[in-house]
Amino acid sequence: MTILSGIQPTSNIHLGNYLGAIRNWVSLSRAQNATPQNSLFCVVDLHAITVAQDPAKLRQAVLEAAAAYLACGLDPAHNSIFVQSHVSGHAELGWILGCQTPLGWLYRMTQFKDKAGKDRDNSGLGLLAYPALMAADILLYKATQVPVGEDQKQHVELTRDIAGAFNHQFGENFFPLPEPLMMGEATRVMSLRDGTKKMSKSDASDQSRLNLLDDADTIADKIKRAKTDPDALPSDAAGLANRPEARNLLTIYAAVQGKSLADVLPEVGGGQFSGFKAKLTAALVDHLPPIGQRMQQLLADKAYLQQVLTTGAANANAIAKPTLQGVMELMGLR
Ligand code: TRP
Repeated sequence: MTILSGIQPTSNIHLGNYLGAIRNWVSLSRAQNATPQNSLFCVVDLHAITVAQDPAKLRQAVLEAAAAYLACGLDPAHNSIFVQSHVSGHAELGWILGCQTPLGWLYRMTQFKDKAGKDRDNSGLGLLAYPALMAADILLYKATQVPVGEDQKQHVELTRDIAGAFNHQFGENFFPLPEPLMMGEATRVMSLRDGTKKMSKSDASDQSRLNLLDDADTIADKIKRAKTDPDALPSDAAGLANRPEARNLLTIYAAVQGKSLADVLPEVGGGQFSGFKAKLTAALVDHLPPIGQRMQQLLADKAYLQQVLTTGAANANAIAKPTLQGVMELMGLR
């Protein structure tokens, strides 16, 4: 089993990234006593540039994302932690797989439709090719398990199709077909201002998300203002139907403590939002600021961060090289 995942570098690594992704990577990696050879986590900077980025902000965001991986508990002795663009095989295999991917498959992707919007012809080719690059990220290491949030499942399924088509045409069983791994209670953390919208770094309102770098006062303030509804909290899951804000806040409350919704519903059911918000704030303040502080320490020691990323890229490259060589031989490029 080989695990690979990544998130885009953004200057607002938030609770959704933590609960929906990084925290799950840490438990997966620990559970299988991973090695840098079978557990790889990258900061996908080449995916980030599929939309416009400010160069200085991007450079800083890559470091922040790497610091977040480490601060959340990913151990560089057991995982390859690296930046996508530092391993040239991603771009090379991305091109090769792009040549094998029918446009029809790419046009169908929900994320492309959302991001390109009505004015498709004005979006960059990279936005359309995005899933072929993601397939390259995964297949370069012959990864078998890909922990992702719900919204990325479609891209992992497309990766399976791309791998299957490649195997069929060039070499049966060359690529294993990767499985998307959806983990834990909070695979979808929603906006604090609108329980039907995903928590996102690109939301104009910072009140909509909890960032890993937020301090205790900021967290308390954001929870205080978080949208609710007028009813008391339900004591079973059925009572959450059509109550997206209640569901979201309860999900966050459970997940941040490593519990399930079913664990916390009896505890808070019947109570008012005001009392619950105090508990939620306490749980968040227990868990998030220590991570943020660790991130700040790491960001203050850039030499250490760079060293982790250099080692990670070297480990990753050693695995990627033979895969790329194999692909090129099968296709007649070598
Ligand atoms: N597309 C993913 C996201 O936006 C990030 C990503 C890029 C990724 N390459 C990947 C995730 C490979 C898993 C595996 O969240």
